[in-house]
Amino acid sequence: MTSQSENDLLTGVGPGTAMGNLMREYWLPACLSSELVADRDPVRLMLLGEKLIAFRDAAGRIGVMDHRCPHRCASLFFGRNEEGGIRCVYHGWKFDVDGNCLEMPNLPPDQDFRQKVKAKTYKAAERGGLVYVYMGEREATPPLPALEAMLCPPEETELSCKQRECNWLQALEGDIDTSHFSFLHTGKVEIGDIDPNHLERFQVIDRAPQYHVITTDWGTMYTAHRPAEPGFTYYRFAHFAMPFWTLFPNGPLEDNIIAQAWVPMDDTHTMTYFFTWKRRTPGLGLSRSGAPLPYLDRATALLPNTTGWFGRWRPAANQDNDYLIDRDAQRTISYTGIAEVFTQDSAVTESMGAISDRTLEHLAPSDRMITMTRRRLMDAARALRDHGTIPPLVENPHISTVARSGDLIAPANLSWLDAYEQTLGRALHPEFSQAAE
Ligand code: FES
Ligand SMILES: [Fe+2]
Repeated sequence: MTSQSENDLLTGVGPGTAMGNLMREYWLPACLSSELVADRDPVRLMLLGEKLIAFRDAAGRIGVMDHRCPHRCASLFFGRNEEGGIRCVYHGWKFDVDGNCLEMPNLPPDQDFRQKVKAKTYKAAERGGLVYVYMGEREATPPLPALEAMLCPPEETELSCKQRECNWLQALEGDIDTSHFSFLHTGKVEIGDIDPNHLERFQVIDRAPQYHVITTDWGTMYTAHRPAEPGFTYYRFAHFAMPFWTLFPNGPLEDNIIAQAWVPMDDTHTMTYFFTWKRRTPGLGLSRSGAPLPYLDRATALLPNTTGWFGRWRPAANQDNDYLIDRDAQRTISYTGIAEVFTQDSAVTESMGAISDRTLEHLAPSDRMITMTRRRLMDAARALRDHGTIPPLVENPHISTVARSGDLIAPANLSWLDAYEQTLGRALHPEFSQAAE
C-alpha cells in the first residue's frame, strides 16, 4: 500500500520538494520548437509548479525565465520581444536570454545599476523539434535524454503534445499498466472482429495475463505474458525511464520505436510529449475488413491554444464535457462510449481526482510494475535528498537508448528476458541522425 506521506513524496513537484528536485536534475521537455517564433510573442510555460515565460530572440536563441520582472515583478509575458531581448512594459527594463539586464531606460545614466540585476533564467536546448529546459542547480548541464525515438531523423518522427488535467504520476501509470488495455480500450473487441493473425489477438483472447517485472539501469521494465499457439508465449514489453518517460507496447517490438514524457506542469496538470517513429507498424486499430475499430482511433481533437498558464494543447473532449461520452455507443460498440484512446485514458486518470489518493487503493498482482516504479522513484528522490546521489541516467542518458517496448511471440521454453534480447537482436534499428548531446 502507498501511504499518505509516500503519495505526497511521489506527487509533489514544486520547488524544494524531493520529487521536484529529482526531476530538476534532468532536461525536461518545455514546448515544441514551433511554439517559439523569433521576435514574436512570448509563451507562458508552467513547469514543475513554476510560472515561466519562453521566447526566441531575433538571433533564434531561446530564453526561459521566471515570468516576473526582477524590477517590481510585473509579468514579462506582456513584454516586448525586440532586438535581442525581452523588454518589460512597466518601466522598460530589457533582459537577454541569459537574464542579463541590457537596459534600464527609466533611470538617468548615473543611477543605472544593470550589472547588479539578473533575471532568473534556465538553460534551454533544442533538438528534433523539441525545446528542453534544465531547471537544476548545476553550472554544467548534463547531456540531453537519449531514448531511441528521440534520436531518429526528425523527418521520420512525429512529435505531438497533449495536456492531461491531473497529477503526472497517475497519468504516467496508465502507460505501465497493460492490463487496462483489454478493457478500457478493447473491452468490446472480440476475436471475430479482428484479423485472425494479428499479433495483438492474444490480448483479446486472454484478458488476464501474468507478469514479470525488474528494475533496470534507466528505470523499470516489465512484460505481460499469455499463452500464444501451443509451445509459444505472447509477450507485451514496456519500460519506465527516469524521471517520467514511458515506452509502451503499441505494435511489434521489431519496430515499435516510441517514447512518451509525462512532464508535470504543476501538481495537478501534466503535459505529454509523444515521439513516434513513422515507419513503425501501427498498433491494433483495424477490424478484419480493414475498417477502423469503433472508438479506437488515435487522433485527439484539441482546443485552440490560448495564452493562459494551462491553455496549451488541451483536448476538446475533457472533464468539463464528460469526455463526450456516448452511452448508446457504450451499450453497443464501445466499452467506454468515449471516442479515441488518449481521451479514454484521460477520462479514467482524471476521474481519480487532481491527485489520486493512493491510500484508498487495493493493488493487485497486475499492478506490480506500478508498485516497483513508485519504489524506484521514491528511492531515487530520497537518495538525492538525503545523500546527494545523482541517478546514473542523468550523466549517462545513452544507457537508456537500448530500451524498446512492444509485442512479440517466442518459444515458451525461452526465458522472458532471452525472448526480449533475441527479438531485439533481429529488430529494426533506425539510423540515428540526432546527437545524444
Ligand atoms: S517591473 Fe519590469 S521594468 Fe519595472
Ligand atoms: Fe490506455
